[in-house]
Amino acid sequence: MLLQNDDDLRTQNEIDLGFQEDVLAGLARRPRSISPRWFYDLRGSEIFEEITQLPEYYPTRTELGILAAAAPEIASIVGPGRSVVEFGSGSSTKTPIILSAVSPSSYVPIDISGEFLGASANAIRDKFPGLLVNAIAGDFTKPLDIPRASDGILRLGFFPGSTIGNFVPSEAADLLRAMAATLGSGAMLLIGIDRVKDRDVLIAAYDDSRGVTAAFNLNLLERINRELSGTIPVEDFRHLIRWNERESRIEMHLQARRDVRFEVAGRSFRIDDGETIHTENSIKYPIHDARHLLDTSGWDPIADWTDERQYFSLILAKSKQ
Ligand code: AVJ
Repeated sequence: MLLQNDDDLRTQNEIDLGFQEDVLAGLARRPRSISPRWFYDLRGSEIFEEITQLPEYYPTRTELGILAAAAPEIASIVGPGRSVVEFGSGSSTKTPIILSAVSPSSYVPIDISGEFLGASANAIRDKFPGLLVNAIAGDFTKPLDIPRASDGILRLGFFPGSTIGNFVPSEAADLLRAMAATLGSGAMLLIGIDRVKDRDVLIAAYDDSRGVTAAFNLNLLERINRELSGTIPVEDFRHLIRWNERESRIEMHLQARRDVRFEVAGRSFRIDDGETIHTENSIKYPIHDARHLLDTSGWDPIADWTDERQYFSLILAKSKQ
């Protein structure tokens, strides 16, 4: 694991403790649910990268296209010299486009997968020699100590990929407000938000023909077995996708194919045939609702861009602080 200092190490231990607590509580509640943040161990982050390449998974390549086309306009609005703070940086694939456009003074990637983060931060260092890169291994939904930008340095938050869709609207609003507080006055935020579209397109994106998304979902159970002394019979669960029209979201579940019994961290669980563990929401927003969400959460949307099919939106917002 590539960790930079004791602070990063402490954060990583706190993340690991959070995993056990969350899983035990999530398996005990009804309906059962486990937060999607725990998908991203090293293996999970790798499988997610594979998802982004799938023909059915339109968000990544659509957002990349929008970003590339909008980069000059974004640069002229944002201006040079900002500190770019990326929330959930993952492989940092989209980052070079934005860093090349806005000539930042520093780059601060934040990701829950500490192992993955080190490698991606180094790739950015190689591409942008001289750029200050300060990686933070941590959960960006918890208060984080982001290195202080020096006086007069404004920040640009970068929150691509429609990760905001993992949060139900009230949590999303809290998160956006916390980001405004973290980024400080004069900050801007560039956020990617997936839009409502044809149901079949949405379902295919989360239930691909090669079963990569199924492997991503099931890896959560493997991770529990690996890290929390679990005895879950993974082959007794199936990947289940639902389009929840009322909540405008794709839901991912792990459904038991028979009655199962297992242990996790010394605790015993029983799950009945057909019962599910809800593992992810991926909320889709009409553009009007996306702008409204920002506007009621401390951010003034000042520009937005989309693709030809209007599958995805990229929104630039300015902090109201
Ligand atoms: C990283 C949360 C944006 O919701 O599309 C992809 C995660 N899950 N396939 C998404 C995901 C299944 C992804 N986000």
